Amino acid sequence: MRGFILGVVITILMFVVGGYLFVHGGGVSMATAAPPLPLEKTVAKMALRASIGNAADLKDPLPFDDSSMLAGVNAYKQQHCSFCHGAPGQVRTAISKGMFPSPPQLFEKEDMVTDDPEGVTYWKLTHGIRLSGMPAFADALSDTQRWQVTMLVAHADKISPAVQAAFGQ
Ligand code: HEC
Repeated sequence: MRGFILGVVITILMFVVGGYLFVHGGGVSMATAAPPLPLEKTVAKMALRASIGNAADLKDPLPFDDSSMLAGVNAYKQQHCSFCHGAPGQVRTAISKGMFPSPPQLFEKEDMVTDDPEGVTYWKLTHGIRLSGMPAFADALSDTQRWQVTMLVAHADKISPAVQAAFGQ
């Protein structure tokens, strides 16, 4: 029994010391340009999914119309979301290009969140995403404004000419 316990203790110590030496020796690059570590994306996604919980059940209480979408554009501009996430007809900033993880370009087809449950998008912009650069907007935007921005990015593929024009002002 004593030998078994000693074995467990030595194994744990080996993991701790091994982990320390790996990180200390530069095994975990903190450069944004470095490729993701093995399992980094899997672990980050798992933790994010667990944090979001059942927010997917939340439904946007606002009617889908241009006035909510236009208010969404206002909030999007006011909080400089486009600085990281872009906007229709806008050139991507160097800061956005240099970040890790890369901020999804919410008005470009391949990055749109139009298929995500609105409750999840609302959760992300309310609480932010740790270690990613995505801020929490619970204090900066009212509940209504967060639903308006959610509506905007959730319908990024269906913006009317009036909403499109509002980005340019
Ligand atoms: C400083 C840069 C920055 C700003 C400003 C910012 N974000 Fe983000 N955002 C990020 C990053 C980086 C991610 C990706 C996080 C990840 O990969 O887990 C992200 C993720 C998101 C996502 C989830 C996208 C997806 O594919 O799941 C949404 C939605 C979002 N942001 C909306 C917004 C809105 C709306 C604003 C403004 C109110 C905003 N963000 C402001 C950097 C930013």
